[in-house]
Amino acid sequence: MSMNLILMGLPGAGKGTQAQKIVEDFDIQHISTGDIFREAMKNETEMGVAAKKFIDKGELVPDEVTNGIVRERLSQDDVANGYMLDGYPRTIDQAEALDQFGTELDRNVDAVINIHVEPEVLIERLSGRFICRTCGATYHKIYNPTKVEGTCDVCGGHDFYQREDDKPATVKNRLDVNIKMNTPLVDFYQSKGVLHTVDGDRDIDAVYQDIKAILNKLA
Ligand code: AP5
Ligand code: MG
Repeated sequence: MSMNLILMGLPGAGKGTQAQKIVEDFDIQHISTGDIFREAMKNETEMGVAAKKFIDKGELVPDEVTNGIVRERLSQDDVANGYMLDGYPRTIDQAEALDQFGTELDRNVDAVINIHVEPEVLIERLSGRFICRTCGATYHKIYNPTKVEGTCDVCGGHDFYQREDDKPATVKNRLDVNIKMNTPLVDFYQSKGVLHTVDGDRDIDAVYQDIKAILNKLA
């Protein structure tokens, strides 16, 4: 049976961190729209150059662009076993588009995991985040450091970076924009009866145990 998921949560709630754990235990594809945009920006594709204008200001990329990317991604064969959308949908327009093409592709959402964290906690999470340039593994200087200082636990790499949109100038607007969009989305999936909310303000493994219990019931 396939398992089609949405991982929802404000910037810094831990979507990417939990996704890294979920793929170790469940055979599903992790699809992060933020990662897709960052890859496109790095390669300076037409889409990447256009998206950068929004991302650098902490704004959302226009719905029609994002919907097109996800629709195309969900139509590929490797998601037949299941997918986990991280950071999509983020607007009601996106949620409705996903409903529509999910049905067309016979790849509808089975469950939404909403990682709930109060906004006050998130600034510190974002400002302390660092990422391995080689494999993309995500760390935090206080809450989730590498086991050996300066060496990635996953790939052994030594080169790390801070995301451009984690710098103070962008973080506040990014949070404001996402907070505004979040409540209607939570309501949307609540009313469909597929929403599972977990308390994301605990240590990473405790949060994961809750998520794993939910997924084990679905699998
Ligand atoms: P995206 O890359 O999705 O960013 P985001 O939503 O802002 O979320 P983050 O990746 O910042 O946070 P996360 O929840 O993954 O947290 P993480 O696990 O890293 O999107 C970037 C931009 O692209 C958007 O702003 C927008 O412009 C554009 N975009 C993307 N999708 C779009 C869409 N659908 N529509 C339109 N535009 C779109 O954790 C954060 C830090 O906290 C890490 O350092 C981690 O180690 C630490 N941490 C994690 N969990 C815990 C814990 N339990 N306790 C303590 N620390 C923790
Ligand atoms: Mg992320």
